Amino acid sequence: MATRILLVTSSILGEHGQSNALANHLRERAAGRDELAITHRDLAVDSLPHLGLEELSSWQVAADERSAEQQVLAQRSDDLIDELQAHDVLVLAVPMYNFGIPSQLKAWFDRVMRAGTTFRYTEQGPVGLVKGKRAVILAARGGQYAGTENDTQTPHLKAMLGMIGITDVSTIYAEGLAMGDGLRNAALKEARQAIDSLVERL
Ligand SMILES: Cc1cc2nc3c(=O)[nH]c(=O)nc-3n(C[C@H](O)[C@H](O)[C@H](O)COP(=O)(O)O)c2cc1C
Repeated sequence: MATRILLVTSSILGEHGQSNALANHLRERAAGRDELAITHRDLAVDSLPHLGLEELSSWQVAADERSAEQQVLAQRSDDLIDELQAHDVLVLAVPMYNFGIPSQLKAWFDRVMRAGTTFRYTEQGPVGLVKGKRAVILAARGGQYAGTENDTQTPHLKAMLGMIGITDVSTIYAEGLAMGDGLRNAALKEARQAIDSLVERL
C-alpha cells in the first residue's frame, strides 16, 4: 500500500517562495515512485478565514442538530481533519513570517486542533487522537534561528502537532536565505539533499 503524504504549503510568494521550492523539490523526488502518493494543499491559494465564534460554536452542536449555516461551518474543519487522518505523513513547508508561522497555516491548525475530535482533555492532561503519523517540517527562513530562543516557530509547531498526537516530528531547515547568495545557495542545497534522503526513507 502507498505511503500517503499530505504536503501543506503556505508561502504567500507563489513561485518565488523558497518553502514552495522545497515542497516542489519533494514532489519531484517523490514523483515516479508508485509507493508514494502526495496530496498538496496550498493554504495561500485555498486560504481559510480566521476562526471565529460562530464556526467554533458549530463544533459544539451535535452534527444532527446543526443549523444549515452551522453544518457548512463545521464541514470546513471536518474535511481538513478527515484529510489529515487519511494520510500517513504530514509535510509542512513553512516560511518564517515575522518570527512565526504564516497566518494561513495557523488558520489550518485552528481547524484541525479540535477538542473531542483530534485531542481530548483528561485528568492526566491532553491526549492526542491523531495516531500513527509522522510529520516533517521544511522550514525556510530569511535569517538564522534554529536552536536559538528566537526560533519560536519550531517549538510552536511541535507543541500543536504533539497536542493532537503527532510526536514524531523532524525538521529540515533552509536558513539565511536573505543573507547573501553564498549562504542561500548552500542552505538550499543542503535542504534539498536532506529532502532527497527523506524521500528515500519514506
Ligand atoms: C511578510 C514576511 C515576513 C518575514 N519575516 C521574517 C522573519 O521574521 N524572519 C526571517 O528570518 N525571515 C522572514 N521573512 C523572510 C522569509 O522567511 C523568506 O522569504 C523565506 O524564503 C521563507 O518564505 P517563503 O517560503 O515565502 O520564501 C519574511 C518574509 C515575508 C514575506
